[in-house]
Amino acid sequence: METQIDSFSVLVFVSKCKAFSSQSTIFLLVSLFLAWLAMALCYWAYPGGPAWGHYWRKKGIICSKAKLIPGPRGFPVIGSMNLMVNLAHHKLSAAAKTFKAERLMAFSLGETKVVITCNPDVAKEILNSSVFADRPVKESAYQLMFDRAIGFAPYGVYWRTLRRIAATHLFCPKQISCTESQRFNIASQMVSAIAIQGGDYFRVRDILKKASLNSMMCSVFGRKYDLGSSNNETEDLRRLVDEGYDILGKLNWSDHLPWLANLDLQKIRFRCSNLVPKVNRFVNRVIQEHREDQTGQRRNDFVDVLLSLHGPDKLSHHDMVAVLWEMIFRGTDTVAVLIEWILARMVLHRDIQSKVHDELDQVAGRSRPLMEADIQAMVYLPAVVKEVLRLHPPGPLLSWARLAITDTKVDGYDVPAGTTAMVNMWAITRDPQVWDGPSKVHAREVSAQGRCC
Ligand code: HEM
Repeated sequence: METQIDSFSVLVFVSKCKAFSSQSTIFLLVSLFLAWLAMALCYWAYPGGPAWGHYWRKKGIICSKAKLIPGPRGFPVIGSMNLMVNLAHHKLSAAAKTFKAERLMAFSLGETKVVITCNPDVAKEILNSSVFADRPVKESAYQLMFDRAIGFAPYGVYWRTLRRIAATHLFCPKQISCTESQRFNIASQMVSAIAIQGGDYFRVRDILKKASLNSMMCSVFGRKYDLGSSNNETEDLRRLVDEGYDILGKLNWSDHLPWLANLDLQKIRFRCSNLVPKVNRFVNRVIQEHREDQTGQRRNDFVDVLLSLHGPDKLSHHDMVAVLWEMIFRGTDTVAVLIEWILARMVLHRDIQSKVHDELDQVAGRSRPLMEADIQAMVYLPAVVKEVLRLHPPGPLLSWARLAITDTKVDGYDVPAGTTAMVNMWAITRDPQVWDGPSKVHAREVSAQGRCC
């Protein structure tokens, strides 16, 4: 805002100049550029870079005098955009070490002020605080309807309604047990699909992604597919999910440099506007089929659950589409990626694999398949899953960031309203002060925390 006012006053000054020869125009343009450059450099001089410098200057705080959050200055104007591409969690963790800012580091993404922590206590402070209940505005998320879904809805009545619906209807034990037999089928199909390959080379990832999508198609839409056969519906949805991931995963310059917004340089708005009608068509069709189903048989999927809600929990059609699309979107690749890492770690650590086999033999034996209820009696397998989640969290930066609704304090530092807050989960789960030999998987015993160590 202040930059706009500064530029405005310069323009007013320019418009008051009476005589405009080409020389004086060039002179004015150069002066304008130099003034802008001086301002940009001045903001950039602050720890955390231009967005923070802009904020502190507005507050009249001089760089050397105040207790400012440490962090990289990045580049003038764009700040540390370069940290947010290709394994951002690695780059942010390295920057935090360089600036001795593991507890709290400030950096700028263009005009966005960001803080990030690599420390579990500060992470708790951020995640438990109602000040950070909101999510930062991300153009693609809004375009893709996520502002009406659980993870991105702005804090308020609708936000609370969605969480109530999720806790009491969608993820309650009764609802989860409804789809147990389908998960069992999918697991058996996965085992057969892998066994059938024999010694041939194949990509286990393809099987896992397809199985995970089939599982979500069943829980959310009540659709049951065979893993071995291909069908247009899941393939269409796979393409929509992949496109959505690709768009949301991009660092959109327009989110942080609003003066670029109209240009849509990365074609993100264009791609969203192509994707949304396809998602709408797909989900609308499924909802319509559920509405028209005269058999009276409930499939007990998420569509049925949402259609059966009454009173304050009843969602509009548009909101239902957003919530159902979010479930498919969030639940598909996360699960597939986690299972792929578990399998990879089992291949690398044969000692752990044989211990898992021993436990499976002990709990289920070899004469019958493993059931979900058996997990209650297992200690080692859940510990292996948690250890893989520790080493390879599918959301290393906890997926979407948080937004400070009001001015607040984090770890003793002033954090203004409008600041984006991130938690570097990947750095926390590899912190040598918390974990002994954090990069290694050890398999001597299972500790109380669930770690195999
Ligand atoms: C291995 C599997 C999964 C992992 C590792 C995972 C991880 C995460 C993470 C890190 C978040 C962000 C939490 C935050 O920012 O506070 C999240 C949010 C969410 N996930 Fe998952 N997820 C998994 C599976 C699923 C599945 C299967 C579904 C749906 C069926 C799902 C639905 C959601 C929803 C709706 C949110 C938003 C919650 C909120 O903002 O309150 N996730 N997940």
